[in-house]
Amino acid sequence: MINVLCVAGARPNFVKIKPVIDALEKIGVAVTLVHTGQHYDASMSDIFFDELGIKPPDVSLNVGSGSHAEQTARIMVGFEPVVEKMRPDWILVAGDVNSTLACGLVGAKAGCRVGHIEAGLRSRDWTMPEEVNRVVTDRISDLLFAPSEDAVVNLRNEGYRPDQIVLAGNVMVDSLFSNVDRALKRPTLSNLGLAPKQYGVVTLHRPANVDDEGMLVGLLRALGEVAVECPLVFPVHPRAASHLEAVGIPAGVRLIPPAGYLDFIALQQGARIVLTDSGGVQEETTAMGVPCVTLRDNTERPITITEGTNHLAGRDPVNIIDIAHRVLIHPPEPRRPALWDGHAGTRIAAAIEARSGETNPRRPTDL
Ligand code: UD1
Ligand code: UDP
Repeated sequence: MINVLCVAGARPNFVKIKPVIDALEKIGVAVTLVHTGQHYDASMSDIFFDELGIKPPDVSLNVGSGSHAEQTARIMVGFEPVVEKMRPDWILVAGDVNSTLACGLVGAKAGCRVGHIEAGLRSRDWTMPEEVNRVVTDRISDLLFAPSEDAVVNLRNEGYRPDQIVLAGNVMVDSLFSNVDRALKRPTLSNLGLAPKQYGVVTLHRPANVDDEGMLVGLLRALGEVAVECPLVFPVHPRAASHLEAVGIPAGVRLIPPAGYLDFIALQQGARIVLTDSGGVQEETTAMGVPCVTLRDNTERPITITEGTNHLAGRDPVNIIDIAHRVLIHPPEPRRPALWDGHAGTRIAAAIEARSGETNPRRPTDL
């Protein structure tokens, strides 16, 4: 039997790993789930296990928060004995968070084959911790599961061999499609006193946006102007919470606690506009055909612009106000990239099964 160790640690990981676990178990693969504990608040972790029906973690490392070095190191120290004991055939890591890099690195050195879900995305912005995590995780992985064709092109341009790359599609969209009907049956909007297409949604959590007070004040000024045209509801990520307490919140921008997965899907689906710096939210809005304005200078997900509903607004308030205004007047036509079809997890599981008969290049003496 093939043994696969799946890693999750932060909010977007839970959404990405669930369809992969399901697809692997469906074809008889034994799956062990490790939760690193990078995110630990009930609203950032437990609610995703409950609402998505993710099995409880087999191992919880409970690393908590810290500096990049502290957090990455704690995950590595906790993860290594788990890998040594289990000696899985594969370790699957997803996305670009510290848990992804830390566990990928441990796995590669322990002689396990590593698969990176969501490989090949590039912002080319080396000030983003996520860019470091992405590039290094790809480099140490055996199998690279690209979410879209542009990611395949990035990997080919960096010299990866075709046999290392699998164009799998988008696992976050798998979870979205499995849950959107259930989400829309909930009284999310009425509980918040919102009417469909009469409001917008905001999320912000990038360090470059929320940790820098001057930047945050500028972004809020822009959001205040957008809210004159379309009131905004803003589920606050814990990183942003303390910074938002220190600055004034404009009228029309309503802060709420982090939303659970189903409520957040319902909020996005009902929104007239979404303003965000989240990677996953850029993808989900495209998958749902909801207009998105990205409050960043770059994106590792340009496919959501060229083949979706996303607009890159940068972080200059004047530009954000202008682009949001234009999007509100002329919303983009819904369209979706190829293979964002709800079956990415199945393609990943099939590739793992197909490759498991091959010699593990990290442990050639095993066979
Ligand atoms: C992390 C990821 C980021 C991802 C985001 C998803 C890294 C480097 N960053 O950013 O790529 O987009 O998750 O949401 O891996 N905190 C809590 N409760 C929690 C978790 C965090 O209060 O459950 C607070 C702590 O003060 C912590 C801060 O948020 O110091 C930042 O958490 P951390 O996981 O380091 O980074 P995120 O900003 O969440
Ligand atoms: N999300 C959520 N509640 C929120 C904000 C986001 O459930 O209040 C979900 C969102 O639907 C997506 C994922 O969290 O599935 C995206 O995670 P996040 O924005 O934290 O990280 P990123 O994608 O930027 O790494």
